Amino acid sequence: MLTTTNPTSTKAWKELNTHLQTVNKTHLNEFFNKNTNRQEEFSFKLEQLHVDFSKNKITDETLGLLVALANESKLKDAIESLYTGEKINSTENRAVLHTALREFSENKTSVDGQSVFPLVKNARQKVKSFTEEIISGKWKGFTGKPITDVVNIGIGGSDLGPQMVVEALSFYSNHLRTHFISNIDGDATHQTLKKLNPETTLFIVVSKTFTTIETLTNAKTCKSWLVNEMDDNAVKKHFVAVSTNQKAVEQFGIATENIFPMWDWVGGRFSMWSSVGISIALALGYENFEAFLKGANTTDKHFRKTAFKENIPVLMALISIWYTNFMGVTSEAILPYAESLNKLVAYLQQLFMESNGKSIDRNGEKVTYATGNIIFGSTGSNAQHSFMQHIHQGTQLIPVDFIGFKKSLYGDTKHHDILMANYKAQAQALQEGKTKEAVHLDMKFNGNAKNINQLLPFKVFEGNRVSTSFLFDKLTPFNLGMLISLYEHKVFVQGIIWNINSFDQFGVELGKEMAKKV
Ligand code: F6P
Repeated sequence: MLTTTNPTSTKAWKELNTHLQTVNKTHLNEFFNKNTNRQEEFSFKLEQLHVDFSKNKITDETLGLLVALANESKLKDAIESLYTGEKINSTENRAVLHTALREFSENKTSVDGQSVFPLVKNARQKVKSFTEEIISGKWKGFTGKPITDVVNIGIGGSDLGPQMVVEALSFYSNHLRTHFISNIDGDATHQTLKKLNPETTLFIVVSKTFTTIETLTNAKTCKSWLVNEMDDNAVKKHFVAVSTNQKAVEQFGIATENIFPMWDWVGGRFSMWSSVGISIALALGYENFEAFLKGANTTDKHFRKTAFKENIPVLMALISIWYTNFMGVTSEAILPYAESLNKLVAYLQQLFMESNGKSIDRNGEKVTYATGNIIFGSTGSNAQHSFMQHIHQGTQLIPVDFIGFKKSLYGDTKHHDILMANYKAQAQALQEGKTKEAVHLDMKFNGNAKNINQLLPFKVFEGNRVSTSFLFDKLTPFNLGMLISLYEHKVFVQGIIWNINSFDQFGVELGKEMAKKV
């Protein structure tokens, strides 16, 4: 069982409040001036990932106190409960075992007396054989033609993850064209159908519950379209499903052998590592899907075994708590410097905001402190030409995660050097800012001396704005798996310390009920 400690009642919380006065007095530049090794001391490596926390308002003492907070919140025990399948989603009486989906060594984790490892292994095998048949063209459609287009029908956790990964890793994709239908907006559905040939299209209906109105309505529309164009018997060759609700899938008319399993111990927003990721395996090939799982598994091992003061996802979570609960931060920006990661933020919004957007603690009491943040962002360098102004000179402190890759995929170093110069420069500009003296000199140098007094205040940047930089060698399936699971564990650690349940989502139910009545 998870503890139910109110974080504000801990000794560390009180000490952090006192410590805040010292940190608030110090500009980030001063931290760097005082310690020339700062960047090295606050950087960590994991496989091909280098994470630099040095541009955050932290000192050794801050981290020590934050780790003490984690210890008082019994984080170590909570991590063990997560991995061993305890029912830590207490409001739904469920285990939370997305880590088991990317575990490759035999283990004894079980839920309600049932071993999890064999279930996962068999499901992976089923995904593997199926994807190989589709990709090789061995699987034929109703009229004998191989599949050319795959359509994932799902929403939320049954859509955002697969869609984001398929696009992020499109460099590795094969000949299959992948489409995603999620919104109940029929115009979008028909727009997709317009592009497709029913004889060569495979629909994957992904719904953990198989009760979601958007997904079922879209699936029915696609089924009617297919049957109208061909025959009732075509469904067997063109529809598969991923769900925990076998009965409802069968009632819908999908053949039992075409159902891929899902389990209630996997939350929707943590599910793309299961059969829910079948569109990823189809688009990229099973081997790439497995590499993606193995990347996540590498982070999982690091998270479970590493001391908190060197544990990357733990530090990500603790530093975010420092900002949220002590410095009044309410939003965080995530900026991947890779255009193919342009759906990453939408995916992470569900992960963070559906998980930690809670105001009732694990005791059932209303919380008296902030939980969760607004997550936003988009790809760099595009973001620099839109909302970054607010982060540089606005009135709020908005911590930024910069995500970059040393090498480009297509090897165009001319573009990549400029892209990465921007990735570096943004973090540096946020930290350093620009002093009066520097603005003065610049304006004089550029022959603008007569406007100096008028423009000076507008051109000064105070700096002292915080960021964390994530640098991978290259955007690969393995590295993307690592990155996503870092964020999953960040969400978990925050939920534990905030004493909330990160794994239910009752907040979205009310709107659904009302929509039905309306
Ligand atoms: O309404 C929110 C939600 O329940 C998400 O948590 C989930 O990912 C999504 O809907 C889809 O649910 P399902 O996979 O059951 O269709």
